[in-house]
Amino acid sequence: MFLGIDVGTGGTRAILIDREGRVLASHSADHAPIHSAAIGWAEQDPEDWWRAARQAITGALRAAAATGHIGVVEAVGLTGQMHGCVMLDASGEVLRPALIWCDQRTQPQCDWLTATIGYERIIELTANPALPNFTLTKLLWVREHQPEIFARISHVLCPKDFVRLRLTGEYAMDLQEASGTLLLDVAHRRWSTEMAERTDIPLGWLPRLFEGPEICARISPLGAEATGLPAGTPVAAGAGDQGAGAVGMGILTPGSVSATIGTSGVVFAATAQPTLDPRGRLHTFCHAAPGIWHVMGVTNGAGLSLRYLRDTFFPSRSYDEMTTPAKEIPPGSDGLLWAPYLFGERTPHLDPNARAAFVGINASTTSAHYVRAVMEGVAFSLQDTLTLFAELGIPVETIRLGGGGARSPLWRQIQADVYQHAVQTLEAEEGGAFGAALLAGSGVGAWPSVEAACQAAVRPAETIQPLHEAAMKEAYTRYRKVYPALRQIA
Ligand code: XUL
Repeated sequence: MFLGIDVGTGGTRAILIDREGRVLASHSADHAPIHSAAIGWAEQDPEDWWRAARQAITGALRAAAATGHIGVVEAVGLTGQMHGCVMLDASGEVLRPALIWCDQRTQPQCDWLTATIGYERIIELTANPALPNFTLTKLLWVREHQPEIFARISHVLCPKDFVRLRLTGEYAMDLQEASGTLLLDVAHRRWSTEMAERTDIPLGWLPRLFEGPEICARISPLGAEATGLPAGTPVAAGAGDQGAGAVGMGILTPGSVSATIGTSGVVFAATAQPTLDPRGRLHTFCHAAPGIWHVMGVTNGAGLSLRYLRDTFFPSRSYDEMTTPAKEIPPGSDGLLWAPYLFGERTPHLDPNARAAFVGINASTTSAHYVRAVMEGVAFSLQDTLTLFAELGIPVETIRLGGGGARSPLWRQIQADVYQHAVQTLEAEEGGAFGAALLAGSGVGAWPSVEAACQAAVRPAETIQPLHEAAMKEAYTRYRKVYPALRQIA
């Protein structure tokens, strides 16, 4: 068996798979809610991730044993929410809560980086512009506002790498995750000495780098005691949630694209070379498989939009109860549009201060219109990334759906209609944890390569054809006018 662990935002999930990619058991444990002391701030306690990881791992092992799977865990792979900044002292103790991926407070640090190093130079060095989501900007905020804490830092990790530290005692990070720190020379797959020097961040704080399937550590006696995994079990480097998720969906060759709607929404394409957007609207990262790269566009508030709608206006309803009436609303929601900028926006606007909006309400607008408009607005926002792919000549042959957007039949059809392209679902849509388990298995030679792992374990289920292209094309044209108008108001 191979174990994949996904240290997400809402919780940690562990799954056990076999060599055919069958999920043998899984278990999840929630995290404490995100702590937000001010608008745009988002922090979590790394020790809470470790508590949830222990529960998820022991729960998955117990569930496997209960169903008669008494096989050995041959390797462990890690994935998780990306970009979060975990600051540790010399003995590996947490110095303060981590500033996580959706924390938006660091625009001043981004402006400082851009002014000091230059917009183009940052993209040359790291393949990406300075964005508040990226780890380095969070570190700079702590230097400026909490110098006493900054002075005690000896190690910086991302969320899943902290869980790895607790499991193995090793400081390690994979290249896909490291691409989202703004400290990696993405084109050459190594830390950027120039970025570290120009920002005065000691390279010694950064962990050793590995390709996704490389075995970088082993479960320590302490990790074994905490989880029930045997000491000595190999641990693969893994990847950030988007990289591992793409492996789990078989997105490894140019032309294959995924559209995943989780809390955030991501359109992801594999590329043979680092493909840069000179305007920095797409992220260009190392892929989780050796020697390839990827681009992705990120909508900060994708699944979050539907959750916000439910929590705010339909508090006692399940997602199914809330979305069923929306099926009766025609494509285009009778002119109602949703701009999903609840957490500012990354692609394509790079604007942490963008605000969300409903546009086009009239006296006939029903609650079901709002629900459908939110689902469409999220898909339009992902379509913005596909529009950028077309502009940059990035090929799109197949689109596979992931996350909550793949599980809802209505959202699947909306996506096919908005992307004007057939979309595929997968048999086992298990998110990043599945990809992390495939990386782990590749690392110990269960499959000769990550590609071979995907061939053995990733199977398409259903293909959905677009049905309402004209209505959605028209609505998308109107949607494109919303952000420029909103910017005028802000
Ligand atoms: C990717 C990103 C999110 C987080 C949380 O760039 O910010 O996908 O990893 O899921």
